[in-house]
Amino acid sequence: MIFDSHCHPQMEQYDKDREEMLKRAREAGVLMICVGTDLETSKKGIELAQKNDGMWATVGLHPNDITDGFDVMAYHNMLLDSKVVAIGEVGLDYYRTPEPGKQKKQKEFFEQFIDLAQKTKKPLILHFRDSSKGSSGRVHKDAIKILDSRFKIQNSGLCGVAHSFTGNMDDAKKYLDLGFCLGFNGILTFTKQYDDVVKYIPLDRILLETDAPFLSPEPYRGKRNEPAYVVEVAKKIAELKNESLEKVIEQTTNNCKKLFKLV
Ligand code: NI
Repeated sequence: MIFDSHCHPQMEQYDKDREEMLKRAREAGVLMICVGTDLETSKKGIELAQKNDGMWATVGLHPNDITDGFDVMAYHNMLLDSKVVAIGEVGLDYYRTPEPGKQKKQKEFFEQFIDLAQKTKKPLILHFRDSSKGSSGRVHKDAIKILDSRFKIQNSGLCGVAHSFTGNMDDAKKYLDLGFCLGFNGILTFTKQYDDVVKYIPLDRILLETDAPFLSPEPYRGKRNEPAYVVEVAKKIAELKNESLEKVIEQTTNNCKKLFKLV
């Protein structure tokens, strides 16, 4: 089995052929974490996970989808479902949200979700995207400051994943120190920007993901992504770390089971 730790099979991009797409994932031995991005996609994700073995759901609010109303109790109640294994995606996105006022709001919401995660003992799926293709590093500075005040450096196990990691080596080290894993997807197959980070960090802190329907890996770039393609990310990591594909798949699958408490 291979684990896609971050995908959105509940999204409308699959409305016409969801069953076929899920069949291809099953045939490829893919286990899935179906990630919510607002109340509606969180609810749909739970329903889909209830109907499918080998799929679990998360409830979250993507920083770009923040609106005025935030119903913390609605999220809290969804967390009671046995198929819900994490809170996310939540975090900060300065790329699509450049307005300082809205960024301040993102931080406030982010802190509320951290509170909820700590209260319910659920891992966090974090989304951080910098303002200009990672050049300023401000989003990671802000994120680490917030996380550092809540988690401190600890050895008490894993507390989440920085999904679609796009920071530098220093950022990577800080997330690891705080007890987070790093998630990598198809971006690795079309840029070398994160190769050194992948080479440096231990395999037991790496999660595979597709972020499907987005971010298709080579050789599917430009087309709709799907969970069955997660093996392309595993192949790239095996190449960068000079490990066998089997070892990368086995270890990253175990990492997911441990983080999401599936064993
Ligand atoms: Ni996503």
